[in-house]
Amino acid sequence: MVKVGIIGFGFIGRMHLATLRAGGLAEVVAVADGDASRLARSGAGDGNIAIEGDTSLVDVETFEDPNKLLDSENVEAVILGVPTYLHKSYILKSIEAGKHILCEKPMVLDANEGCEVIAALEGYDRVFMVAHCIRFWPAYVKAYELVREQIYGHVLSAHFVRNSPKPLWAWDNWLLDEQRSGGAILDLHIHDVDYVNYLLGKPTEIAAAGIREGKEGIGQIVALYTYADGPVVSLDGGWAHQPTFPFRMTFRISLEEATLESDGAALHVHTASGEHLVPELLPGDGYSREQEYFFACIRDGKTPAIVTVQSSLEAIALVEEEKAAIGRSG
Ligand SMILES: NC(=O)c1ccc[n+]([C@@H]2O[C@H](COP(=O)([O-])OP(=O)(O)OC[C@H]3O[C@@H](n4cnc5c(N)ncnc54)[C@H](O)[C@@H]3O)[C@@H](O)[C@H]2O)c1
Repeated sequence: MVKVGIIGFGFIGRMHLATLRAGGLAEVVAVADGDASRLARSGAGDGNIAIEGDTSLVDVETFEDPNKLLDSENVEAVILGVPTYLHKSYILKSIEAGKHILCEKPMVLDANEGCEVIAALEGYDRVFMVAHCIRFWPAYVKAYELVREQIYGHVLSAHFVRNSPKPLWAWDNWLLDEQRSGGAILDLHIHDVDYVNYLLGKPTEIAAAGIREGKEGIGQIVALYTYADGPVVSLDGGWAHQPTFPFRMTFRISLEEATLESDGAALHVHTASGEHLVPELLPGDGYSREQEYFFACIRDGKTPAIVTVQSSLEAIALVEEEKAAIGRSG
């Protein structure tokens, strides 16, 4: 079994630990976090999705200095769950250390940093993948198959929604600092931006409007993607919501012969012939499925094809185009 080290033991680092333990796909041998108090925490922790499973660090080597984890020959693969402004430096250090790398999304803070990462990965013979979990989320996977195989004809329109209460749980409140997180548009909304790019490719035109919340950056976004060959897609996302508002991700895709609808968990297919189908989905969630794929790539010596380095950069570039469009719309 591949031996894994997790760097950054906040919400997503803990989610990765619990998910890996439940799936038994790899062995977490080490965890590092720059804030020692984070290594002493117990319980499910924080974030907008409940973490179920074992996040204890019993029998796991812990490091307050992540460089020591990277120096450890016992660690073959790293999962990077540090704040986004630190992704580039940890990716570069992990490449230097010769590890397989699963880096959380967004790959980096901006497209310039993305180009530096792509240059550093030139000729790298280990697996590198950005954890764009929505490409692996079962309802989204099934919708992708139905659309790409044109089971119900072409896409006419689509609507993606992703909303969360304001994330007050992050270490040092880094999420509410645009300089460190990129704001909701890069941190949260990018999930749908990336999925739409995966599903339909780069739009011909992007229009967008958003709410800027001072140093927190753009907290709420409505974007409209149009394609020369037809589809019109709207994306609504952000975290400008009150504490008791529940996290929600939903979508609707209208095709010539069916309308697909999802609450993020199930997929409903309403066909032109009047049927309402609820297809069986893959087991697990986007986290377990992305891990399964990442470790299969390591085992089989393959470069990830579902999420590529290039597609990870494209998602950031699309967010930057939305930001420019928001600037234009005043
Ligand atoms: N795929 C998803 O669904 C998803 C969900 C949440 C977060 N994320 C991404 O995961 C990353 C982390 O987000 P989070 O919500 O877990 O944040 P978090 O604040 O909960 O955790 C970040 C952790 O990094 C640690 N840290 C800070 N500086 C460090 C350093 N220099 N070296 C090592 N550790 C350091 C902090 O102590 C903290 O424990 C972000 O890039 C975020 O966008 C992805």
